[in-house]
Amino acid sequence: AGGVPVVHQGKLTTCTHLPYPPFQFEQNGKVVGFDVALIDLVAQNLKVEQKILDTPFENFKTGAFLNSGQCDLAAAGMTITDERKKNVDFSIPYFDATQALLATKKSGITSLDDVKAKSARLGAQAGTTGESYAKSQGFNPVAFESSDAVLNGLRTGQVDAVVIDYPVVQGWLKDKANSDQFVLGTKAIETGEKYGFSVKKGNSALLAAIDKAITTAKADGTYNKLYEQWIGP
Ligand code: ARG
Repeated sequence: AGGVPVVHQGKLTTCTHLPYPPFQFEQNGKVVGFDVALIDLVAQNLKVEQKILDTPFENFKTGAFLNSGQCDLAAAGMTITDERKKNVDFSIPYFDATQALLATKKSGITSLDDVKAKSARLGAQAGTTGESYAKSQGFNPVAFESSDAVLNGLRTGQVDAVVIDYPVVQGWLKDKANSDQFVLGTKAIETGEKYGFSVKKGNSALLAAIDKAITTAKADGTYNKLYEQWIGP
């Protein structure tokens, strides 16, 4: 992989899908988070600014916004999968994740078996690995448009339980108003997922710059610092 990466209109333009805390979300009118901070390191190395565009989640599977040149890369807490690799190229992994089952306390649900036994309503974000996992277990989850919508669906009683990436729930449950009413399943859903950033197929120059930033941040302590800042100890 070689060459200097060429970026869109002088800015490192990142496609994302908001909100997905703690990876990307709005705070005081600015998009911040773990992914944003990591991609800022890439931008710094390239001596450009990062510009973030909120795009439909479906885009990450097809790579449409990367292929059209509207975005240089996608950063959306996205799991590296073989299916997605058909349409985009992924960086080296930058985060390990699992799925979580989250249910209302009053439903008494603590496992996917309970969801089945109670014929309860299950939700997930459309197009995500959480949705695929639920389907692989024989469920037909109600599809929500964003991770926020999934959690709101649970809050407003549209569904009794949801399957969603664990790091998202981890932060959400720190809020007592949430932990009073909602509870994690008793068994972790170890899907062994790894998040990666993606670029247009064949954009090896930018991919090399992203990989290098991740590797360097891991070696010099920056990664751990950002991890603690955004994900927690
Ligand atoms: N890790 C999951 C996936 O790749 C969920 C990602 C959701 N990202 C988002 N920005 N809403 O399918």
